[in-house]
Amino acid sequence: MYRTHNCGELRINKLGTEVTLSGWVQKVRKLGGMTFIDLRDRYGITQLVFNDETDAALSEKAQKTGREFVVKINGTVTERSNKNPEIPTGDIEIIVKKMEVLSKSEIPPFTIEENTDGGEEIRLKYRYLDLRRPVVQKGIILRHKMAQEIRNFLSNKEFLEIETPFLIKSTPEGARDFVVPSRMSDGKFYALPQSPQVFKQLLMIGGYDKYFQLTKCFRDEDFRADRQPEFTQIDCEMSFVEREDILTTFEEMTKHLFNKVMNVDFPNAFPRIEYDKAMENYGSDKPDIRFEMKIHDISKLSQNKGFKVFDDAEYVGAICAEGLATYSRKQTDKLIDFVKRPQIGAKGLVYVKYNEDGTFKSSVDKFYSPEDLKTWAEALSAKPGDLILVMSGEKSKTLTALGELRLEMGERLNLRDKNKFAPLWIIDFPLFEKDEETGQFHAMHHPFTSPKPGEFNLLETNPEAVKANAYDLVINGNEIGGGSIRIHNTEMQEKMFEHLGFTKEGAEEQFGFLMKAFKYGAPPHGGIAFGLDRWVALFNGSDSIRDVMAFPKNNAGRDLMIDAPAEIDEQQLTDLHLKIVK
Ligand code: AMO
Repeated sequence: MYRTHNCGELRINKLGTEVTLSGWVQKVRKLGGMTFIDLRDRYGITQLVFNDETDAALSEKAQKTGREFVVKINGTVTERSNKNPEIPTGDIEIIVKKMEVLSKSEIPPFTIEENTDGGEEIRLKYRYLDLRRPVVQKGIILRHKMAQEIRNFLSNKEFLEIETPFLIKSTPEGARDFVVPSRMSDGKFYALPQSPQVFKQLLMIGGYDKYFQLTKCFRDEDFRADRQPEFTQIDCEMSFVEREDILTTFEEMTKHLFNKVMNVDFPNAFPRIEYDKAMENYGSDKPDIRFEMKIHDISKLSQNKGFKVFDDAEYVGAICAEGLATYSRKQTDKLIDFVKRPQIGAKGLVYVKYNEDGTFKSSVDKFYSPEDLKTWAEALSAKPGDLILVMSGEKSKTLTALGELRLEMGERLNLRDKNKFAPLWIIDFPLFEKDEETGQFHAMHHPFTSPKPGEFNLLETNPEAVKANAYDLVINGNEIGGGSIRIHNTEMQEKMFEHLGFTKEGAEEQFGFLMKAFKYGAPPHGGIAFGLDRWVALFNGSDSIRDVMAFPKNNAGRDLMIDAPAEIDEQQLTDLHLKIVK
């Protein structure tokens, strides 16, 4: 037998018990006539003691075990004279009678402790060692718990978990596909699903009116902290539903998760903010509403006073950073650098300090009198002591830049507390977005999304104004989930493809199977998918989803541990009818 107990469970009530423990050697210490080992497994750490006088040979063996050796010991639980209140097993220790080394270890390339000395690359290369660290385990365990709670909740509501295939044909989520060559069909490829979108719709036509699946999705897109090429969705779909049914069901699921996992309750309904309002007020379609600092349109108040930059701009907007009028020249210069970074891409920034004594000091004092600046302050409900930050230009770009600046100022003012959660729904997205270069329309969500009821007619006359029956769940500035009510009739879907620039043949080739299925009795349906990795990262307080994935890829999409992607040999290429052209 390898163990009677784990390394985290023995307490003072077990004094005198003979136990067998197995685990990893965290640390070996020699103190006077005693040798101590901290033995670790995923449940905790237990202190082992070896008395050099009573069994010198055993003590010597203990001293020779290195970090990360796997050992099995037999011994007796005793009370510690020098108790450690930091750990749950800190009142006891094990007087060891027998020890067996089950497995040796080379010296690990980084310390396997809460605060490790290893950089991210080395930890990804030796991910199995990183996984032993309690901080990493915490995220993995949290992920399991959340997945369990989601399954419980949805199963209780009669949702069925149904698997859908990975080897399929291109799905339309807007990213690049990962493709897999087919050995049996010369020159043909499968695509890995960017999401199970079309299959869940086919399941609705198949009569499975409540579906969900925790499943991998694959997208060949540029890396970000909240993106991985393969990630996990909680994918859901329902038949005979309107938007309200979906929002109600999944708001309840969200509240259930918050309650069970985080012990946080939301007595009120989540706010719902229209896309246009979110852009106007927060410069983002995933606003962080843990704090106010709304964007205000001050175009009317700031134009026609001779300041050309503002006069020529389509839009002038501002935010108010509370209490920051004390910012020095150096600090405001740094802010200007911040908005000029390519990620934000603004040309500049105007600041107005509303001093404690009621006077104003701004970077545009030449053009605006204190009375003018006072009207801005009033529009922003700014108080003496506040700093007003103004940007101008093309409206949507300026709003986005102000949105980024708002987040930065929120961060600086400690308004983005990781222990506070602010969920909301974004609704009424535009159905289309226009490619600035080609003028071509793209589906903002995906091509199966239905326009809002009552907006069908606008499709012909003013497609840009059509709102989609789509929604996102946003928490603390993260897009956690998104979905829509779908189109469920062939004519409407054909019209949609037409607007998206598909030829009849093109649409038929890519989505003919779905159009055909719509002809055999498609129920009205809709759904949503949540990013499990993002949700776990949020609950875990992690900045990157890599922290809550057992085996993530690095920021170049590589698995550093198994060294993938890798070349394949000549024979494999031949079997797959492939030739590499350098
Ligand atoms: P969407 O593309 O919005 O919708 O994806 C749903 C959610 O998945 C998460 N997500 C990601 N997480 C990590 N890495 C990525 N690369 C990544 N891409 C997306 C986000 C996002 O909100 N089929 C539709 C859903 C539907 O209409 O029902 C879809 O996939 O949290």
